[in-house]
Amino acid sequence: MTHPAPSADGARVLADLNALRAIGAYKAGVHRPTFSEAHLASLQWLVARLPEAGLTGAIDGIGNVLSTSAKPGPKLLAGSHLESQNYAGWLDGPLGVIYALEAARVLNNDPAIMGSVEVAAWCDEEGHFGHFLGSRSYAGSVTEADIDAAADRTSGRSMRAALQAAGLAGVARVQCERGRHIGYLEAHIEQGRTLESERLKIGVVTSIVGIWQYRITFSGEQNHAGTTRMDERKDAGLALAQFCVAIDARFPKLCGPRTVWTTGRITLDPGAPSIIPGRAEMLFQIRDADVAVVARLEQALHAMAGEVNGQGRCSVTVDCIRKGTPALMDDRFQQAIEAASASLASGKSLRMPSGAGHDAQVLATIMPAGMLFVPSIGGISHHWTENTADEDIVTGARVFVDTCRRLLASSTAGR
Ligand code: GLV
Ligand code: MN
Ligand code: MN
Repeated sequence: MTHPAPSADGARVLADLNALRAIGAYKAGVHRPTFSEAHLASLQWLVARLPEAGLTGAIDGIGNVLSTSAKPGPKLLAGSHLESQNYAGWLDGPLGVIYALEAARVLNNDPAIMGSVEVAAWCDEEGHFGHFLGSRSYAGSVTEADIDAAADRTSGRSMRAALQAAGLAGVARVQCERGRHIGYLEAHIEQGRTLESERLKIGVVTSIVGIWQYRITFSGEQNHAGTTRMDERKDAGLALAQFCVAIDARFPKLCGPRTVWTTGRITLDPGAPSIIPGRAEMLFQIRDADVAVVARLEQALHAMAGEVNGQGRCSVTVDCIRKGTPALMDDRFQQAIEAASASLASGKSLRMPSGAGHDAQVLATIMPAGMLFVPSIGGISHHWTENTADEDIVTGARVFVDTCRRLLASSTAGR
C-alpha cells in the first residue's frame, strides 16, 4: 500500500493567519511596522509555534526568526515576513510564513518523509528601515555600518535604538550556513490581478523584479510668497512638479512593457503657503525585470536633471539610494510547483514574473529559490482591504506543502 501524500490542514492555516491578523489589527488589515510592539509580538508568536513543527528557533540580532530541525535528510528553507506596510493588509508576508510553518508541521513530523522544512521570517522586507535588511543580513551582505545608518522612514528612530528597545542589541545575527539547504521556497499573495482575471489558482514565479530607488533634490531660493514676482522666483517645489510631469512624458518612449515608476514621498522645504520653497525632495522608484531598461531610464533621469540645471533657475541632483538586482527563480522549483498544482489545483497555474520585490530575490543569490502566488481579490495590496478567498488560501497551502514534499523527495532521490 502506498503512503498517501501528507497534506496541509486548511482550518489550521486559516486559524493561524487570523491569529496573526489580531496582532496589530487595523480595520480589516494590520498596522505592524518593523520593530513595533505588534511586530515583535508576531515574531514571538511564531517562535512559540516552532516546536509543533519539530523546530528550534529564536529571533536573531536583526529581527529575523530562524529555525533549525534536527531531523536527518535534506533541508528546505521556507518563509516570508511578518511586518506590514503602515496600515496595510493581513496577508502580505504572513501567508508565506504560515504556509512554511504548516509545511514544517506536516512534513517534519512525518517519519515517512525524508528531510525537513526550516521556517524563517525575514525582518523588514517592507523597507521601514532599509531594504531586505533581514534576508540580506542572512546572506552576509549587511554590515554593522549599514545598521548604524538605518532609521525608520516614518518616525526617524534609529535601527540601533529599535534593536535596543526590542532587547536585540548585542544578540548575534545568524548567517546562512552554505550548503545546509537544498533551496528556499516562499509563498505570497499575487498583489496584482493576473490570477483572478484568468480564474487561475497558482502563480509560478519565473523572475522577481529589480527595484532601483532615487532621492531627487531640487534647490531654488526660499523667499516671501507675497512680494516675490512670479518671473523672479526660483521655486524648488514647482521645479519638482514639472520634473514629475516630464518623467511621465519621457519614460514611455524608453521603458519596457512591464516597467513601472512611482513617486513616493515629496517634501517641500519649508512647506508653508506663505513661503516659496527653497528646497524640495522626492523619493522615486523604478522597477523592471531587465536591468538594462532601468539603467536606460536612470540615464534619462540624469539627462533631464542636466536640462533643469542648464535652465539656471533651480538646480537638481539625482542620487541612487537602492539598486536591487532582479532574480530568476530556479527551474526545478518552478517544475515542482507546477506538478503540485497539477495534482491539487486542477492544473490552474500560470508561469509569471513578480512585479513586487520579495526576500526570495535575496535568497536566490545564495541558493536555488522559488516562489508561488495565490490570487489577490481585486489585485489590491499595500492597503488594509487586501484579501484572498479562504478557499484560495487553503488551495495554496496544499500546493505549497506538496511542493516542499516534492523538492525534498527529488533531492533525496539524487543521493
Ligand atoms: C514589497 O512589498 C514591494 O514593495 O515590492
Ligand atoms: Mn511581502
Ligand atoms: Mn509588501
